[in-house]
Amino acid sequence: MDTTQSDGSGGRPAEGPSRSGSPSQSGGGSDGAPDPRVPWVVGITGASGSLYAAAVLRGLIDAGEPVDLIVSKAARLTLIDETGRSVRDAHWKDDVSAWIGRELAHADVEYWRADDFAAGPSSGSYRAKGFIAVPATAAACAGIALGLSKDLIQRAGEVNLKERRPVVVVPRETPASRSHLQHLLELHDAGAVVVPATPAFYAGSRDLDQVVDFLAGRILDAAGVEHGLYRRWKGDLGAARDDA
Ligand SMILES: Cc1cc2nc3c(=O)[nH]c(=O)nc-3n(C[C@H](O)[C@H](O)[C@H](O)COP(=O)(O)O)c2cc1C
Repeated sequence: MDTTQSDGSGGRPAEGPSRSGSPSQSGGGSDGAPDPRVPWVVGITGASGSLYAAAVLRGLIDAGEPVDLIVSKAARLTLIDETGRSVRDAHWKDDVSAWIGRELAHADVEYWRADDFAAGPSSGSYRAKGFIAVPATAAACAGIALGLSKDLIQRAGEVNLKERRPVVVVPRETPASRSHLQHLLELHDAGAVVVPATPAFYAGSRDLDQVVDFLAGRILDAAGVEHGLYRRWKGDLGAARDDA
């Protein structure tokens, strides 16, 4: 099975936004009425760290935030490697639900194919709260910084930067080369918040889930989304360890 390819659906996913059916298409029409749906565009790229992506998605959903999800071709490989799970375009809702452990029936999550350059998030006129790339490959960081638009994730990142919306990138590569660092600096200078996938251990984390949630919480902090994913520092040395 080639899990990196779409599924023979002939282009459009069986589930997910259609040109006529997406909520984003139904609200702010030519009458100029405000579109009630303003999602976070979340791009998952092929860096190690699918756990971080799942935790961020859960955090956004639990906060009641609408999400437009894009999964790169390479991210399907890291997802399979790290979790044994697939995200198939035609079955994204079931696949993502099983992966992140959240029922999506009542969550406001839409899905765009990574090769769909005509998708909503490819345009600055498409309403979005901002963009989060988690985890972000060195390739995606370079592509967004340079405006390569190799796929919809890179395009959406660049679009949200040019629209001066919040952009959070979570690079995961080590050690960093000079070009990696240069691209991250360019993203920072363009207005992005760079949140390297480097968890801290001052919040009393005892297991992997808590380590992952700490980083997901810092990513949501950078986006300005409320959550209770980790114990914030309160100025008492060792208190988190005592409480854990
Ligand atoms: C199992 C696996 C783990 C990978 N981990 C990383 C990583 O941590 N960081 C990174 O920059 N690239 C990583 N890569 C390489 C990227 O997937 C590759 O550069 C890809 O072209 C990125 O494409 P994308 O940015 O469109 O997802 C990994 C690849 C595989 C198969």
